[in-house]
Amino acid sequence: MSCILIIGGAGYIGSHVNLLLGERQYSTVVLDNLSKGHNWAVLQGDFICGDMADRSLLSKIFKDYSIDMVMHFSAHSIVGESMSNPLAYYRNNVANTLTMLEIMIEHGVKKIVFSSTAAVYGEPGYIPIDEAHPTNPTNPYGKTKLAIENMLEDCDRAHGLKYVSLRYFNAAGADEKGRIGERYDPETHLIPKILNVAKSVSFQSAALSPLMGEGWGEGEYPPVEIYGTDYDTPDGTCIRDYIHVSDLAEAHIMAVEHLRGSGDSRIYNLGSGNGYSVRDVINKVEEVTGVNLPVRECPRRSGDPARLVASSELIGKEWQWKPGHGLDGIIRTAWNWVMKPRA
Ligand code: UFG
Repeated sequence: MSCILIIGGAGYIGSHVNLLLGERQYSTVVLDNLSKGHNWAVLQGDFICGDMADRSLLSKIFKDYSIDMVMHFSAHSIVGESMSNPLAYYRNNVANTLTMLEIMIEHGVKKIVFSSTAAVYGEPGYIPIDEAHPTNPTNPYGKTKLAIENMLEDCDRAHGLKYVSLRYFNAAGADEKGRIGERYDPETHLIPKILNVAKSVSFQSAALSPLMGEGWGEGEYPPVEIYGTDYDTPDGTCIRDYIHVSDLAEAHIMAVEHLRGSGDSRIYNLGSGNGYSVRDVINKVEEVTGVNLPVRECPRRSGDPARLVASSELIGKEWQWKPGHGLDGIIRTAWNWVMKPRA
């Protein structure tokens, strides 16, 4: 039986895709170096702990398993970090993907689903952003993802490699059944950061709070930080398009089916088409959790565009994909995950 190699399948998005593939009876093998992923997140398929930069390991996997397709989730993905340490991003994202593509071609594996990002567009010229929008990334993270898309395009022309590149907007939420969810250390993403504050506040006693550190006395909580309140948006805070991780996973299954059916190469946006400001998200978290959140207004974070909202009309039209969760469902499932006792 043909098997899908999921690189980065122990990470946040990859683990949700692996789980859904298993539920749909696909055979998978996960390769992850656990630098950001977790072995508890690999709930089905074989798991190999290792690095995609390891040529001999990759060759062995291609020999041992009957792999017909790769799904590639493994990347450094924090915009700010990419600005301060660009070479780590070029090394990990671009150079390691190059190695992996060489080995794929060597072994005659010519189908790949690639995790791309809205960051390839840079500062939007118009909203909603469709796939025809110029790509002009403003940070090394977005540049590395665009470089990989360019490699894929060239490999299609030269070697007949077929790819589906999915440009995610802001992935959020957790598995509906609470089996897996987002966990980074440190956490930088807005929704889990807010939910961590909500969790702290919801503990009755300050002494029980997991976020209490030095400088936070009883009855005080580390506040939600709003990075910038003077953007040119209705409430002055940044607008983003949040998309549920399980909706992303559904699109990946469609990509697998498309490529297994000898489909051609495609690039699609994945977003909801709805923009929410940082304040909208805070209000929604208060509504879903019933917690009053302490908030602190902070200066802008460098490199943040004021608005990023997707048009996902193309994948809707061509594959009938549409998101099943709104912001409410995203926050409800993420809250359920954050409140779940940790093993
Ligand atoms: N924000 C805050 N306070 C926080 C954290 C974030 O106000 O404590 C704001 C940010 O300034 C931004 C918004 O919330 O305006 C969302 O920030 P995130 O860090 O959650 O997400 P980003 O939009 O920066 O980036 C995410 C992914 C990238 C991807 C991008 C595509 O991390 O990999 O979405 O839209 F490229």
